[in-house]
Amino acid sequence: MRVISVVNQKGGCGKTTTSVNLAGALAADGARVLLIDMDPQAHATLALGIDPEEITENLFDVLAERERAPHLDQVLISASERIDLAPSSVVLSALEQKLAAERDDDRTERLSTALSALPHKYDFVLIDCPPAISLLTFNALRASQEVIVPLETSLFAIDGVQKLLETLALLMDRIGHDLSVRILPTLYDGRTRYARDTLGEIRELFKDMCFDSVIRMNIKLREAAQKGLPVNLLAPKANGTLDYAATAIELAASSPSRENKKSEVESSEGLSTQREVVIRYRNAEAADVRIAGDFNGWIPDRNVQSHIQTDGTDRVWTKVMLLSPGTYEYRYVVDGEWCTDPDNLDHTPGPMGQPNSVLHVS
Ligand SMILES: Nc1ncnc2c1ncn2[C@@H]1O[C@H](COP(=O)(O)OP(=O)(O)O)[C@@H](O)[C@H]1O
Ligand SMILES: [Mg+2]
Repeated sequence: MRVISVVNQKGGCGKTTTSVNLAGALAADGARVLLIDMDPQAHATLALGIDPEEITENLFDVLAERERAPHLDQVLISASERIDLAPSSVVLSALEQKLAAERDDDRTERLSTALSALPHKYDFVLIDCPPAISLLTFNALRASQEVIVPLETSLFAIDGVQKLLETLALLMDRIGHDLSVRILPTLYDGRTRYARDTLGEIRELFKDMCFDSVIRMNIKLREAAQKGLPVNLLAPKANGTLDYAATAIELAASSPSRENKKSEVESSEGLSTQREVVIRYRNAEAADVRIAGDFNGWIPDRNVQSHIQTDGTDRVWTKVMLLSPGTYEYRYVVDGEWCTDPDNLDHTPGPMGQPNSVLHVS
């Protein structure tokens, strides 16, 4: 079972549209899909034609109670062929308060526990997250191995996504497992130069982390949500159907286990040419310093060994990375603020005009 969270703290970037229509495209290819609506706004529930007010038991009942709670499979609704839905409701917004007194570990693994108790398995579980990094999103991430970040093709959105990647890196520490993160460009209007340039910049910045598929603006996606159907069932030839079908193929072809094997092969072939690169950051006040660059998909401290030492009143962070020869761009994330390396005068403008530090590995 591949469990995938669809996450972005920004609203309106296409999380729900992606969850519902990717579910539709995967199901059309024969996969069994469970869609979990983790957003109290219940947009995914509505987009599959189900009225949250008419449901007696929903995800809240499963997650909020430990004793006497219904099992996840008892609240599932068959939404269309091969798609089951775990419906949401506005009461889900009370979960945080309801679980406030619980231990952090208990509060955050509710969904993961509910999923592992499912009597039958799905090929894909897609979790539509709310537009916030809340307890609900945390539950989703703990249950997932993969994350899809829908990213609206606007420059402003790129800025937000770097913050999100930083948050995901911190959460990976807390949940204790790695997440395979991929970015899906959405709401793309290829008629405007602005959108074309932005897409180019997103690809340049995130490279392999980015899906090759792009979700174009398509009015049929809006209509399908209003009619309560995945777009492929409403308009089989619409661009929205074609784009999510392409994304589904790409997703299915890149199972995380296959990616791991690929990187094992790459690393065993590439080991002889990789260099150990060590850089240091010195600061008296900072509490948390991470490094993010095109070598780690801009996910702070991913694939980096980090050590802290004290030197007089300063703290010194040592970052050790294995890199192939080439030129890389990077920034430090110091207590949540993205900044250049103060000890490196070699800068280049990044996509938002901000300077990135440049690292040459020979
Ligand atoms: N590719 C697209 N083309 C046209 N409209 C879209 C597209 N993606 C999303 N929308 C519309 O934009 C709005 C926000 O999308 P939604 O998926 O609900 O975002 P989120 O879940 O991230 O808040 C919805 O009205 C949706 O129908
Ligand atoms: Mg949504």
